[in-house]
Amino acid sequence: MDGFLDLHQLAQHAHQILQNNDRGTSTKPAPSLYPHQWNWDSAFIAIGLSHSHQRRAQQEIQSLLQAQWSTGMIPHIIFNPESKEYHPGPEYWGTELPASPVGMKTSGITQPPVIALAVLEIYKNASDKPGALAFLQETYPLLLREEHFLSTARDPHHEGLSFICHSWESGMDNSAIWDGPLHAFNTDFNPDFKRNDNRSIPANQRPSDDDYTRYSYLVQCYALKKWDQSEIFALQHFAIQSLLFNTLHLKSRQSLIKIAEIIGDDAGDIAYNIDQAMDSFESKFWNIDKDRYLDYDMVSQSSIDIDNISQFLPLFTGVPSQEQADKLISILQSASFWPEPGFGICTQAQNSIQYDRECYWRGPVWINLNWMIIHGLELYGRADLAQRLAHQTLLLVSDHGFYEYFNPETGAGLGSDSFSWTAALVLDLIASGYK
Ligand code: SER
Repeated sequence: MDGFLDLHQLAQHAHQILQNNDRGTSTKPAPSLYPHQWNWDSAFIAIGLSHSHQRRAQQEIQSLLQAQWSTGMIPHIIFNPESKEYHPGPEYWGTELPASPVGMKTSGITQPPVIALAVLEIYKNASDKPGALAFLQETYPLLLREEHFLSTARDPHHEGLSFICHSWESGMDNSAIWDGPLHAFNTDFNPDFKRNDNRSIPANQRPSDDDYTRYSYLVQCYALKKWDQSEIFALQHFAIQSLLFNTLHLKSRQSLIKIAEIIGDDAGDIAYNIDQAMDSFESKFWNIDKDRYLDYDMVSQSSIDIDNISQFLPLFTGVPSQEQADKLISILQSASFWPEPGFGICTQAQNSIQYDRECYWRGPVWINLNWMIIHGLELYGRADLAQRLAHQTLLLVSDHGFYEYFNPETGAGLGSDSFSWTAALVLDLIASGYK
């Protein structure tokens, strides 16, 4: 898809959205649907802000790190005490525990780790380099604590891969990848929940009530275990080594090694662990029969065969060989994933039974995943495709608005309007020279 783009106007609009969603030291992902602070949202937002508002980008990260648990976990939501509308609110999580941060209310799970990457991007894009160096020195020990959490509590078999205990931790809440695992455990009580999301947004664009029953059940089971990580794993309700999560975990380790070099730390353990992580990534996720990457379910001890966008995300790490990358890129260009007229990459293959062009993570195009794939294409020498995808992404937002996600067939905006990471990653693409 080709079309006229006014990059200056688009960037101005993006800045306005981030300013409107700004709560001082953190940014709401969306004006009313998501009124609190979310972990990976803030990391993407910080990347967007880093080009022009270094101090504010640093604050976005600092406010996240202030909510770090003593276990090292950085929670997926930090609640805004003034906002009561969102379900599940703070009272639902049972997180008032010795390990959780004093004076703050948070969820009990985490989200894909993007913070170390954001910290490194802030340093790279900084106009005040001494200030950015001090910021690296301040945040590095906290990022190491997160790394320790992920590589111990979330890696019970010492494989170098981390598991997620809830589909909310994947970031792709209702992806078809989780359908099997979410229905493989019995819900032996009926969790009560009162959702508002499917009243403010058309219900067909959001997860179903059955999904929410299972999401809420897991939260209540884990709350009963007081969020003890080994007890959560022992329940064997939901334990997935997710491709998206592990792609970002590897990227996070790569970022930590670069940060360590800049500040003069030796990063010995991470350098050692990353080799094992890359080997395990290949041996566990690359499926020889299917000739592609698949997520792995630690409960059923089997790969999850769903034709989903996740298979392309390893490109972002540089782990696939050129031969594997060529295969991935050829599937990526198929009409099932990158249909005409070209708005970006479908989250679920169009020719699969699970595909739904309007439902959240079951088909629609998301800007953060387009962004990861753009960078992955660059890594594998496909600047031509990266530019095409970046242009389509910018044009999509310019023509249809700063939505949360988009119909891959028409480009129509879905979910919340004025979505912060859409604005932030548009700013990052523009600042990186895409047009
Ligand atoms: N994405 C979730 C929601 O829809 C929360 O993490 O509320």
